[in-house]
Amino acid sequence: MSPRTVFIEAAYLLASILFILGLRSLTIPDRARRGMQLAALGMLVAIVGTLVNHEIVRYEWIIAGLVVGSVIGYPLGVYVPMTAMPQRIAISHMFGAVAATLVGVAEYWHLGNGAEVSRPVMAALGFEVLFGALTITGSFMAFGKLQELLPSRPVTFKGQNLVSVGMFAVAAALFAWLIADPAHPGAFYAMVALGLVFGVSLVLPIGGADMPVVISLLNSYAGLASAATGFAIGNNVLIIAGALDGASGFILSIIMSRAMNRSFANVLFGAFGAAPEASQKTAQGLPVHAITPEDAAIQLAYARLVIVVPGYGMAVAQAQHQVRELAALIEKNGGTVLYAIHPVAGRMPGHMNVLLAEADIPYEKLKEMDEINDEFKNADVALVIGANDVVNPAARTDKGSPIYGMPILNVDEAKQVIVLKRSMNPGFAGIENELFYRENTAMLFGDAKASLAKLVHEIKQA
Ligand code: TAP
Repeated sequence: MSPRTVFIEAAYLLASILFILGLRSLTIPDRARRGMQLAALGMLVAIVGTLVNHEIVRYEWIIAGLVVGSVIGYPLGVYVPMTAMPQRIAISHMFGAVAATLVGVAEYWHLGNGAEVSRPVMAALGFEVLFGALTITGSFMAFGKLQELLPSRPVTFKGQNLVSVGMFAVAAALFAWLIADPAHPGAFYAMVALGLVFGVSLVLPIGGADMPVVISLLNSYAGLASAATGFAIGNNVLIIAGALDGASGFILSIIMSRAMNRSFANVLFGAFGAAPEASQKTAQGLPVHAITPEDAAIQLAYARLVIVVPGYGMAVAQAQHQVRELAALIEKNGGTVLYAIHPVAGRMPGHMNVLLAEADIPYEKLKEMDEINDEFKNADVALVIGANDVVNPAARTDKGSPIYGMPILNVDEAKQVIVLKRSMNPGFAGIENELFYRENTAMLFGDAKASLAKLVHEIKQA
């Protein structure tokens, strides 16, 4: 083995170790930033290892790619708001899938349009371009739905199921043919084209609400495509990183589906069957108890146990720093403040944890649903900040509700519930929340950040 090869392999080994350590740290919120830094360092080491490869003949295009990538990537990382993170991730996956597919196509073309491709390499290349291609368009559709460039509702047409399954069957048949005899460029490029069309038909019939699950599933496809690229071009770091990416994306999709009490098949093919009957229950005519910041502040100032329930609205309002300020005042008065984190609160996994960690709220105060649910009955106040679906009791009782069966936070068991939101508008699932009409619920209307600032002001005055 030449010293250059030893250097490359050592760099790839180090990069893989850094990726694994990075992923490990990402599972612990207060070490998540460190995890990202480790993974970024791993990527740098992998790039350096790749750049000394003797197969590189010219560096100009690589430098151009580095400049263009940095010009696009830096603003994406710095300026895209947290609330737009799901669509940003979708578009990043699309870029990753474009890269994997282009490498696959280039490799096939480079090897005499299949003439010099062995069967095992064809299997890896076929997998790479097929999954890569469907991830490109699938991720782009997910981006379009989340950015509201496309209708967020499931887009279906008669016979869609049949068309999609037919398309996939033809692509799989072409793949099998190519493995038997790789030198059929027409079949290869037709398979890539079918993969692209299949990505569109896979995602269009899925509603916007399920896009985060779809994105993490597409993430796992992109990971598998990268691992296949690694096999095809004999690159160890691609095999390891692709496998890590594929497995973690898949596990995350399962966790999210479970938290929403949906089966995987229901998320992916739910729109193929009959759409579930939307709940007919409305709360029209019921009185709503609106509260002033002064009254809410009094309740909070004298509470012994306050459980904060953050939701998507806290992220929209970017109210996490005001939450910490309010908690500090309650604690100064001798109260205890805990945070109840629902697994699908917000719009992406860990959304609430990341925001609260950013505001330096101690990690041990963030309690997962199973851990905190029994504690609500001891709470003087459950302070719901921009959360809606994750506290909707319809999930327990209303069989016609789209969220029926989803485990929720038991806020209604607290002595008093104070809800901070701007109006009576529904949340993500688009349904009414009967909690807002209950006797022990008070609504503090307004932007969450502004309302929290008023509460802080009132408690300081008292
Ligand atoms: P939602 O049910 O979406 O409710 C958010 C509420 O925040 C809205 O009712 C809105 O009411 C309020 N809001 C918006 N902007 C606000 C502001 N500036 N100040 C105060 N309030 C504001 O949120 P949730 O309870 O966090 O539930 C998450 C939903 O997303 C669930 O249905 C879940 O299934 C879905 N989902 C989540 C994920 C992940 S991984 N997190 C993945 C897929 C789907 P107003 O307009 O009246 O203010």
